[in-house]
Amino acid sequence: MTGVAITIRSSGATGQLVGSLLVTESVDMLPTLEKDIEMTRELQIRSFRAEDGAACHELRRAAFLGVFSTFLPPDAVLGGAESYGVSEFTERIGAMESCVAVRDEFLIGFCTIRVLSATHAELLYLYVASDHRGTGVGSQLARHAEQQLLRSHPEITTLFLDTAVPEYNQSFWERLGYRLAGSSFCDYPSGRIPAIRLEKRVDGPSPDRE
Ligand SMILES: CC(C)(COP(=O)(O)OP(=O)(O)OC[C@H]1O[C@@H](n2cnc3c(N)ncnc32)[C@H](O)[C@@H]1OP(=O)(O)O)[C@@H](O)C(=O)NCCC(=O)NCCS
Repeated sequence: MTGVAITIRSSGATGQLVGSLLVTESVDMLPTLEKDIEMTRELQIRSFRAEDGAACHELRRAAFLGVFSTFLPPDAVLGGAESYGVSEFTERIGAMESCVAVRDEFLIGFCTIRVLSATHAELLYLYVASDHRGTGVGSQLARHAEQQLLRSHPEITTLFLDTAVPEYNQSFWERLGYRLAGSSFCDYPSGRIPAIRLEKRVDGPSPDRE
């Protein structure tokens, strides 16, 4: 029998031995094995499916109870976190333009855009799991959702969004080309929370629209 021993070392500077494995198959399989491992590390962005609903619901809920609780009053945090049940939320985002980010088979982010008129659409949700933030997932998701929207609705000229936590995320949106357009509100079961509106023109020349 052909065999090959694989030792696994930590990726840190010390390279400590973590474990070893004896593969008793042909050495020819190794390139395939490496390719498969590499592929699972990649970020995949794909359209939303109904079975993603519970994970998306939890990402949004966790953001309210986590990072948003620093910026919002407690009733808004609870009102926002509990706005929808899982099946209602799944149905809601399934009926709009939604995409998800998957890494190592785990759903780590999602983005939803709602078309409001022939020319206007609202970026309604963008959430990334806390331990994957700052790695480019949020911007890739937002760009992907925008490209999808413009393919299916080429007549859209303006994308906007309301954020109730501008101290936290306004500069993120500005990096993606959104600009302050005025004040607004976010509606939660507990009531209205003041928000700002950010807007972006999307009808300029863009390779995404070809
Ligand atoms: C806001 C959020 C979607 C950003 O996603 P992310 O994957 O962390 O962002 P990225 O890694 O793509 O960041 C892109 C750039 O924005 C910066 N950035 C990320 N989050 C930021 C924030 N909250 N405020 C300011 N800048 C931010 C990053 O440093 C990065 O800068 P760089 O290009 O110079 O490296 C994510 O942090 C999140 O899910 N937060 C909680 C939910 C939320 O606020 N959603 C928006 C509701 S309106």
